[in-house]
Amino acid sequence: MQIKINNLSYTYLAKTPNEVEALHDVNLEIPEGKITSIIGHTGSGKSTLIQTLNGLLIPTSGEVHVGEYVVTNKKKKNKKIKDLRKSLAIVFQFPEYQLFEETVEKDVAFGLKNYGVKEPEAIKLAHKALNEVGIDKSFYKRSPFELSGGEKRRVAIAGIIALNPDILVLDEPTAGLDPLGSKIILSLVEKFNKEGKTIIIVTHDMNIVLNYSDHVVVMNDGKVAFEGTPSTLFNGDISKYSIDVPELFKFVKILESKGMKLDISKIRTLDDLINQLKEKR
Ligand SMILES: Nc1ncnc2c1ncn2[C@@H]1O[C@H](COP(=O)(O)OP(=O)(O)OP(=O)(O)O)[C@@H](O)[C@H]1O
Ligand SMILES: [Mg+2]
Repeated sequence: MQIKINNLSYTYLAKTPNEVEALHDVNLEIPEGKITSIIGHTGSGKSTLIQTLNGLLIPTSGEVHVGEYVVTNKKKKNKKIKDLRKSLAIVFQFPEYQLFEETVEKDVAFGLKNYGVKEPEAIKLAHKALNEVGIDKSFYKRSPFELSGGEKRRVAIAGIIALNPDILVLDEPTAGLDPLGSKIILSLVEKFNKEGKTIIIVTHDMNIVLNYSDHVVVMNDGKVAFEGTPSTLFNGDISKYSIDVPELFKFVKILESKGMKLDISKIRTLDDLINQLKEKR
């Protein structure tokens, strides 16, 4: 499913003294089947942007096209919005705070039941989703509140994956997790992408941008400031966006400045760098 955003603006508390224009004339295409990161300083409009993608926020002006769905304020009632939310599902920041059922399996089945799936089938699909996120059978009947932070987050992601969305949007999926917990979540995201899902990740972590993303969008004051590949971004002048260059990228630049010929556009991980160095020998 293709995502195309045309002249999108969004204002909170419009026509009040406190109004905030969070998005201003955003035009974007999110590549299908790829991993796209959305970055930018705090308050730049990232979370607002993703919530317009499935109509949780209705644009003040402009429109969002997701496959055949259109999110706009021109339609009085968008009956298809429920279908859209199943196709483009959002994992919010700290999704574990939204767990509430008495068992893990019931929690994951909850969303499916909202879409009319009957209990036995919903539980079956919940088990499949839990298996996908690496949550063992022995957890199914446990209370979600008794799990570790990383496990809770995986259960919350299973609740979204169970809906089998084409597009998965994650708002700061690694926030508050330790390196291992983060790695587990990111490996899952990579797996979902390999299975054909389009992924959008909102993040402040530049290593996620370099290691995992095909495409990156930089938001700045509600506008798109940059769109392209991570290596183009980090090669350019990024001082104006208040973001950091990933350590690996800095290191590769130093090697290049010492005369080492490397294809920087193909270096996303330490293994990529090691492989290029081995080829040189
Ligand atoms: N519910 C709201 N009511 C009023 N203003 C809001 C609301 N939510 C966000 N804003 C404002 O809209 C702007 C964009 O906020 P948004 O949450 O999209 O930023 P963000 O890029 O996700 O930031 P962060 O990195 O801190 O999560 C900010 O100026 C923010 O204060
Ligand atoms: Mg945000």
